Amino acid sequence: MNAIFGRRSIRKYTQDAIPGDVIKKLLEAGMSAPSANNERPWHFVVVTEKDILAKLADVSPYSKMTKDASIAILVCGDLEHDISDRYWVQDCSAATENILIEVEENNLGAVWLGIYPREERVEYLRKLLNIPDHVVPFALIPVGYPAETKETPSRYDESRVHYSQW
Ligand SMILES: Cc1cc2nc3c(=O)[nH]c(=O)nc-3n(C[C@H](O)[C@H](O)[C@H](O)COP(=O)(O)O)c2cc1C
Repeated sequence: MNAIFGRRSIRKYTQDAIPGDVIKKLLEAGMSAPSANNERPWHFVVVTEKDILAKLADVSPYSKMTKDASIAILVCGDLEHDISDRYWVQDCSAATENILIEVEENNLGAVWLGIYPREERVEYLRKLLNIPDHVVPFALIPVGYPAETKETPSRYDESRVHYSQW
């Protein structure tokens, strides 16, 4: 549970490389997420090339840190595996969060960058990474060894909790 309570968005990274087996663990964590009807409607595009990371950084004004990341993982939803009609968004969210938790577990840092439903971001990444029409870029996750630290105070908020009824 420390990986959940200790997780924060990390936007500054060292230039250390992430070993291949660690990258695989991150992907395995994503694929371990729950999904509607166990449909697992996800794909993951792993980018390690510096020139492509720099282009990914231009997907929005809030994604510039991606150019300094060691890798980026693009979580995508496959509409041909979405028999539950639109649950793919929740399935991909669960996969994205699982990756962030595994990132923390491996002493890495990352941040969830929102792509879907911003149409211009979806189309930019679709073109850049040659993604087919039935696959939707959902969230971009730049990952690297952290070059910043953050406090992790509890965010427990009693006012958001309702017992038995509102
Ligand atoms: C759907 C979603 C989209 C986000 N998009 C961005 C983004 O474009 N750029 C960014 O720097 N952070 C982005 N974040 C990270 C949030 O800013 C961050 O999670 C929030 O400020 C809470 O901070 P924490 O992650 O350190 O707990 C996004 C997070 C989510 C869940």
